[in-house]
Amino acid sequence: MEVIICQDAGEAGRRAARRIAAVLSRTDEPVLGVATGSTPLPTYRALAELVDAGDLDTSRVTAFALDEYVGMPVDDERSYADTIRRTVTEPLGLDPASVHVPDGMAENLVAGCQAYEDAIREAGGVDVQILGIGGNGHIGFNEPTSSFASRTRLKTLAPRTRQDNKRYFAEGERVPTHCVTQGLGTIMDARHVLLLANGEKKAEAVAAAVEGPVSSMCPASVLQHHPHAVVILDEAAASRL
Ligand code: GLP
Repeated sequence: MEVIICQDAGEAGRRAARRIAAVLSRTDEPVLGVATGSTPLPTYRALAELVDAGDLDTSRVTAFALDEYVGMPVDDERSYADTIRRTVTEPLGLDPASVHVPDGMAENLVAGCQAYEDAIREAGGVDVQILGIGGNGHIGFNEPTSSFASRTRLKTLAPRTRQDNKRYFAEGERVPTHCVTQGLGTIMDARHVLLLANGEKKAEAVAAAVEGPVSSMCPASVLQHHPHAVVILDEAAASRL
């Protein structure tokens, strides 16, 4: 793992964007793995600046998101489909038809998960996967105890994750209990992975992921086995290393 510690989240975003652009520019049919959450937003803004400056061509980019809530309509602004549209597809000028998000509304969720795996494979696999990290060490929605061999599947959200994500929901509104997420095996198939974390609240999870034992109790620790994993942190997120 290569660990890069930046002064602040803005610098981390710009460093990440440069890395991503370099990988995407090396291939004719680039495939980008995108994540939701607040952490990658500076990276998406920095990528949009590269596009606007003519330094990154996104016309042939295909994108796959990591996860989605089950039962959340795609036009609900809390859905990851809508979040990706607002934060990635539109600012980076991607073709909406080339941006894929797992279907949390599918009548047959199991078949939908298999179809998602097939779509990633048919696109040639992910060239570079952007990841945030949950306070409990999750990546995507692979909660502690997730199998390292897991593929896209239905998962129950951990109580801590539901608590962390409560901020997106109104008082008294029920936070979703289930999600569809790429598995750890799916994520590990990406040719490059870039884990981002900002702020003191992530410091413990980052230390466990980077320096702790490789354990399904900290799903992000599996990235220690990835041949091209880069971790980009601000100083606060790196404070327990
Ligand atoms: C959610 C997402 C993850 C994300 C995590 C951290 O649970 N499923 O992909 O990494 O939140 O979010 P944030 O970046 O807002 O801290």
